[in-house]
Amino acid sequence: MSTPLSINGPRLVQDLTDLGAIGPAEAGGLSRTSFSAADREARAWYLARVAEAGLSAEVDGIGNIVVTSPHYPADIAALPAVWSGSHIDTVPSGGRFDGALGSIAALEVLRTIHESGVALARPVKAVVYTDEEGNYARLFGSSGLVRGYTREDYEGMVGRDGDRFLDTFADWGGDLDAALRTRIDPASVHATVELHIEQGPVLEQHGEQIGIVTGIVGLGGGEIVFHGQADHAGTTPMRMRKDALVAASGFLTRIPEIAATGGDHAVLTSGIISVAPGSRNVVPGTASLTLDYRDLDPANLVALGDAITAAAQEAAAAAGIEAEVHLRATIAPAPLDEGVQGVIARSAGQRGFATRRMPSGAGHDSQNMATIAPTGMIFVPSIGGRSHCPEEDTAWQDVENGANVLLDTVIELASS
Ligand code: HGY
Ligand code: MN
Ligand code: MN
Repeated sequence: MSTPLSINGPRLVQDLTDLGAIGPAEAGGLSRTSFSAADREARAWYLARVAEAGLSAEVDGIGNIVVTSPHYPADIAALPAVWSGSHIDTVPSGGRFDGALGSIAALEVLRTIHESGVALARPVKAVVYTDEEGNYARLFGSSGLVRGYTREDYEGMVGRDGDRFLDTFADWGGDLDAALRTRIDPASVHATVELHIEQGPVLEQHGEQIGIVTGIVGLGGGEIVFHGQADHAGTTPMRMRKDALVAASGFLTRIPEIAATGGDHAVLTSGIISVAPGSRNVVPGTASLTLDYRDLDPANLVALGDAITAAAQEAAAAAGIEAEVHLRATIAPAPLDEGVQGVIARSAGQRGFATRRMPSGAGHDSQNMATIAPTGMIFVPSIGGRSHCPEEDTAWQDVENGANVLLDTVIELASS
């Protein structure tokens, strides 16, 4: 069997190391929120790597970066392309592999294809999606491509730091009219494939090198606001208090029970809790909780939303106060393409890697791209199953393994 073409491992490792140094957070890890100073630095670094490789990049109206080779013959360049990529934004104090691996491995695949002169039947594009972590909207960049946003949507977007999207976007140099025009032509995409760390413990626990993703969970979100009454923390008798945080805690302690109403992969958490007016000597007047809930089955997502709403109202009633529940539109679960899964499986098998077919409990841009083209995802192990934290780590050998399976998959998908 001839030695298969392989990516340039040391170059990939160096790029991930260099990108992993951009946007260090005081609390450890990386903080690279889309359109922040750190994100701008990371984008500039990425575009320099593209130029260095003799490739060309376009930044669309919502900041997605799409890279292609300028050397395709005209008849090939016009054909529906194979897309591969991920994101370079991070959660606060996030890790250096979530998103970065798939973004840089896709660039490495294009560099390797370009350098090797391998003949393709259609173009390949590497993409960096904006704000995958949903600081302004969940899977922002790919959601904008496949569904678009209205002016009202953009006007209502507020980041976790309280900044209005429109202000931050304008500071970054974004143009709202261009953003409103930004959509992808589904006919321009032949297939997509994304490499990503598993962000869980399964592959490591079973000693497997490659995860072949069968489907991605649906994503539910929103907020609950408990409206109590701010009062003096010393003089207000306990029996007279309307403590919003006590009411919220009546909801929070029921999270495991609520999640159990969904399927095997149902999850729920409140990642941000804010209390007002926010003084140690004032009884909390309001307590706001964010919601992140997920399930592989769309019907279960609806059931989870109903269970969340009921539990919030019960917690408020028990404390003698009111609660507002705002559930956001969900992003649908996405079964991934059997054909692309088969291509991934063949590559991993030929390279001697142990594989596992598995669902993704994390959301990914691929679940949006799967609505317009056959889509697959490749997982590599996360050490200790950790992610969205400074401890996030993956062995360099697994990084190279995943990138080589991505290379094979992209070449096969682009060869017909
Ligand atoms: O939240 C997620 O699942 C992804 O990391 N954005
Ligand atoms: Mn990710
Ligand atoms: Mn993430």
